[in-house]
Amino acid sequence: MKLLPVTQETEQRLFFHNYARLPIAVTHGEGVWLVSDNGTRYLDMIAGIGVNALGYGDNRLVEAISTQTAKLIHASNLFMMQPQFELAEKLLELSGLSKVFFANSGTEAIEASIKIARKWAGKFGVPNKKEVLSLSNCFHGRTYGAMSLTAKAKYVDGFEPLLPETGMITFNDISDLEAKVSEKTAAVFIEVVQGEGGIHRISQQFIDRLKELRQQYNFLIVADDIQAGCGRTGTFFSYTPLNAEPDLVCLAKPLGGGLPLSAVIGSEKVADVLSYGNHGTTFGGNPVACAAGIAMINAIQDDNLMENAKSIGKYINEELQKLAAKHSRILEIRQYGLMIGITVNKEAKYYVGKALEKQVLVNATSVNVIRLLPPLTISREEAQHCITTLDEIFSEEEAEGVS
Ligand SMILES: Cc1ncc(COP(=O)(O)O)c(C=O)c1O
Repeated sequence: MKLLPVTQETEQRLFFHNYARLPIAVTHGEGVWLVSDNGTRYLDMIAGIGVNALGYGDNRLVEAISTQTAKLIHASNLFMMQPQFELAEKLLELSGLSKVFFANSGTEAIEASIKIARKWAGKFGVPNKKEVLSLSNCFHGRTYGAMSLTAKAKYVDGFEPLLPETGMITFNDISDLEAKVSEKTAAVFIEVVQGEGGIHRISQQFIDRLKELRQQYNFLIVADDIQAGCGRTGTFFSYTPLNAEPDLVCLAKPLGGGLPLSAVIGSEKVADVLSYGNHGTTFGGNPVACAAGIAMINAIQDDNLMENAKSIGKYINEELQKLAAKHSRILEIRQYGLMIGITVNKEAKYYVGKALEKQVLVNATSVNVIRLLPPLTISREEAQHCITTLDEIFSEEEAEGVS
């Protein structure tokens, strides 16, 4: 069989033009290194957009996936399946919450949460208690409900009309929060650490006030931990250090160890909201993805990867602060575990291209933020390799006088 050339020309011919793919075709990975079809090894500081928490080729993950694949790839939620039960139990233990719903992607977890929130709010007999709020600069996904909660125009423009009864609170602005929430509010969606928005964490004061207002107006706090969760920030849930006490939590990205899987975890308050047929999905909670999820969480715990995220994250931060003192291009470093943003005073995609030339994969978000989301397994030497490369790029730019 003649294989298609995996080139940018073929990509343009085959696909809708909605992805700005890097000009390399990747075939496999080893640890934190991603390998292209010509054998070039790239240090991967993106990890499949925050998915590959264990890097590439973790034997436990491969074993869990192949064992479950040989037994049962899919049966649907018409049946009970051991891997789903095990993973749900683990998530309840870790969160201290009451019920789990599995879907396939982050945006689906958000959709399910919007539905749960509105149905829950309907119980109280308050007219129009349907409003779902989110924070400016946030990202919750690209399906209609999730997109309606998403801040940036580039994700929304042209797709209107959006879901009614949605609105936005200015990030970390307590007076705006006080002005926006009311009896009509069903839920407030938060990313404790905003990822697409450029790695910004909600303040403790904002969370505290949000909880007080929840008490006053009876709405749900929904933590979108799709990017920041599963250990990336140094705790399994990013909201734990701020004691956000959400009523619903959304997880995805690393949850299925690289296979499509997301979860909504809910408190006792919402445990009885959904009834048969209210919500569902054919694939959600697929047994192979759940087996991978169990292996992934076990590995995070067994290998102390949350500690690694904290200590390597701290190390990267210290080293980046030194770079910031040396290179005026760098305006600010923000770091929560292994979720790192470097604000620069030009378009960050320039650095994505330069790093690629030096076989380091970084990502640009929020126009002028270089985002690092490496596997949680990254070592100090590998982290240093990334820092040294960035240092070289900034130095070369200065030497060449590039504006
Ligand atoms: C915080 C957050 N929420 C939701 C999503 C949407 O997830 P998915 O792309 O799996 O639909 C993302 C994806 O980047 C995200 O970072």
